[in-house]
Amino acid sequence: MRAVILISGRGSNMRALLEADLPVDIACVISNKPGAAGLDIAAAHGVAIAVVDHRLHPDRAEFDAALAAEIDRHRPDLVILAGFMRVLTEAFVRRYENRLINIHPALLPAFPGLHTHARAIAAGVKLHGCTVHFVTPEVDAGPIIAQAAVPVLPDDTPERLAARVLRQEHRVFPLAVRWLAEGRVRLGEDGTAAVIGVTGGDADHEALVSPNG
Ligand code: GRF
Repeated sequence: MRAVILISGRGSNMRALLEADLPVDIACVISNKPGAAGLDIAAAHGVAIAVVDHRLHPDRAEFDAALAAEIDRHRPDLVILAGFMRVLTEAFVRRYENRLINIHPALLPAFPGLHTHARAIAAGVKLHGCTVHFVTPEVDAGPIIAQAAVPVLPDDTPERLAARVLRQEHRVFPLAVRWLAEGRVRLGEDGTAAVIGVTGGDADHEALVSPNG
């Protein structure tokens, strides 16, 4: 499987993917921001890097067309949004239908959009987390491949909670990409995704309880 990773900044999820020894050829890391720290990390890992600067394009449609042209040069089977902070046009999403995935820092369908950690704290939820999902034209709404949950603690700040979630992002994103590379992710007609060949383990008796005093 060949993949392209899109980033906008720090690139810690991209790093987790590069260091997970996946059966995936990461053909290129593309950033919409020229100075993105993740570009240096990718280059240090020997991965090709490219920049498609959104500020050099008059509108979303033209930016997305330029981005698609760069992506298509690498002929990827999978396009991975790893902290890519641009909303994509429907035309772009359709072009990569069923091979475009994203990681979102919340347990979707709760808290789509931005500032998820602050919103989770404000809502008083006791569990929060992250979601790897296929991208569909509606933002943060596509079929869910995998999720990881963490407790929200009484003295949490958005920053502390974000750090706790991020550690799980770095676990669950490589897992999901591995399953995709192994051909184990099936998309249902009903808009859900299922992973083939996972056993439930002792799941009937397991729960993450929060608060847990
Ligand atoms: C992550 O929290 C990701 O879920 C969100 O943006 C952040 C990117 O972080 N979409 P990084 O660039 O992967 O470090």
